[in-house]
Amino acid sequence: MDVLLGLQWGDEGKGKIVDVLAPQYEVVARFQGGPNAGHTLEFDGIKHVLHQIPSGIFRPQILNIIGNGVVLDPIVLKKEIDALEKFSIDYKKNLLISKKATIIIPTHKLLDVALETAKGDKKIGSTLKGIGPTYQDKIGRVALRVGDIHSPNFREKYDTLVEKHKTILSFYSHPLDGLAEMEAQFFAAVEFFKTLNLIDSEYLVNDALNADKKILAEGAQGSLLDVDFGSYPFVTSSTTMAAGVCTGLGVAPSKIGEVFGIFKAYCTRVGSGPFPTELFDVEGEAIRKEGNEFGSTTGRPRRCGWLDLPALRYSIMINGVTQLFMTKADVLNIFEEIKVCTHYELPNGDRIDRLSFEISELHVQPAYKVFKGWNCSLAAVRSYDEFPVKLKDYVSYLEEELQVPIKLVSVGPDRVQTIFR
Ligand code: GTP
Repeated sequence: MDVLLGLQWGDEGKGKIVDVLAPQYEVVARFQGGPNAGHTLEFDGIKHVLHQIPSGIFRPQILNIIGNGVVLDPIVLKKEIDALEKFSIDYKKNLLISKKATIIIPTHKLLDVALETAKGDKKIGSTLKGIGPTYQDKIGRVALRVGDIHSPNFREKYDTLVEKHKTILSFYSHPLDGLAEMEAQFFAAVEFFKTLNLIDSEYLVNDALNADKKILAEGAQGSLLDVDFGSYPFVTSSTTMAAGVCTGLGVAPSKIGEVFGIFKAYCTRVGSGPFPTELFDVEGEAIRKEGNEFGSTTGRPRRCGWLDLPALRYSIMINGVTQLFMTKADVLNIFEEIKVCTHYELPNGDRIDRLSFEISELHVQPAYKVFKGWNCSLAAVRSYDEFPVKLKDYVSYLEEELQVPIKLVSVGPDRVQTIFR
């Protein structure tokens, strides 16, 4: 089983890369996160954003699994499946959902808003999709799981959980506006859910591995948002790193093969939290505009900055990355000069290049190596040989610094704008 994940703060372009690699695999599986993901795929002039459904869904020969580590919103899933209708996808056959995946219920979304509002100016930038409160209930052992929907006690379990949530919401004086409408949608979506292929996915995954089938585990968000190793508390609620594949799908660590680490040729971040190379000037604005750096789920403008090597090395280390894939190289076409952060400097002049526990309080300044930009369009480039020399230099420098081969460079959103090395 191979793993593909983001090495930065998410939005690295994982959706496109999974779509490109998918023909090599028989199964594509999501192992964590929920509708806070927004994987954008572009092909044949069509742009499509997937939130919970794995990115192999457009290839009829691939089985797509939503694993137990995912938190699933039935309302969003129903909408996603409806949006697939026009592609004639046989989702009843090709989409399989773990009965152990956790369900997001309407009051989880209200709680998300209430808890984020209560943080005031310390808010973490939640997507407000109910993800955090649902993972809290999972760990608190009170959550509803997909397999529960067939239980005669489902409504009772649901009501018990909602009562608990209402107590918390009343503590925060949070209104229940819109709840009745959301509940009607939820129960309609649950009925639809019952018609889907709900399985014990850990058996399916391990049976497939034993039959030598190739599986790709598709990460969402990014390693620097991991609940343990990200910039806590400005993180997501799940294990976004390679280790999350084992708990999120029920596979042993010995079954993991290649770990593909995806990074953008620069950095972006959505929401609050430390971001040492963030640009607040015209250069940051230019990256945002060229890269169309606005959230595919929330539409929020993304914070933009130069590539951060200490952060990238950290992600490579905690994931055991075996191959690097660099996306959005074309976004840097417009720059005369391109910068890469090689280390951080402390106010006393000391240099550091590790992401220590204290780093967010240390007021580090990024130190940069400056490259001449290639300053030309990459739109027609279809092979590495056609790359401008300065882009080749940039790729070779990163490879040398990171000590992991960069096997793929993406130079545009379309499937065909993907260059293997
Ligand atoms: P999350 O799991 O939510 O973090 O999403 P993601 O990693 O799949 O990234 P997302 O699809 O949100 O954002 C990537 C965006 O960049 C999409 O609009 C892609 O179509 C686009 N994209 C991907 N690769 C490239 C590229 O090489 N160049 C350009 N210009 N756009 C790209």
